[in-house]
Amino acid sequence: MRYLLLLLFFVGCSNIQAPEQSDLQLPEKSNLQVPKQSSIGEEIYKDRCVACHGENGEKLALGKSEAIGGWDKEKTEKVFEGYLNNTYGKELKALMKMQIGHMSKERLVQLAEYISTLSGKE
Ligand code: HEC
Repeated sequence: MRYLLLLLFFVGCSNIQAPEQSDLQLPEKSNLQVPKQSSIGEEIYKDRCVACHGENGEKLALGKSEAIGGWDKEKTEKVFEGYLNNTYGKELKALMKMQIGHMSKERLVQLAEYISTLSGKE
């Protein structure tokens, strides 16, 4: 009787098949792409700055600015401030002031942040 129970036990177990590995297909890595999140800074830049400063901040805007891509965040923030209170700028500073005049401080910080991530090269 004992043996029979033991036998039943084993038979029972053998029915609990572990799923074969091939059943456990994980999605391939390439399917797990998380969409690259674009920041607000990136959105504003692409919307309002790219035409003159280039996608990577590599252009000399209207031939007058430096290439701003990769500038330190703090530097860019100071420059924005300077344009806004007329203490910074060259011939076309009024034009640049117009570009950022209506923006909140928070947005300018986000823009400066994004600009710091740009390569500054074609
Ligand atoms: C119509 C073209 C134009 C657009 C659009 C524009 N800029 Fe400019 N930007 C310029 C010019 C021209 C200068 C140089 C101005 C001067 O004489 O000081 C400049 C200068 C700058 C500078 C300082 C570079 C330096 O040489 O000192 C920064 C930073 C800057 N722009 C950021 C931005 C950002 C951020 C935006 C988008 C919100 C933007 N610009 C949109 C034309 C543009």
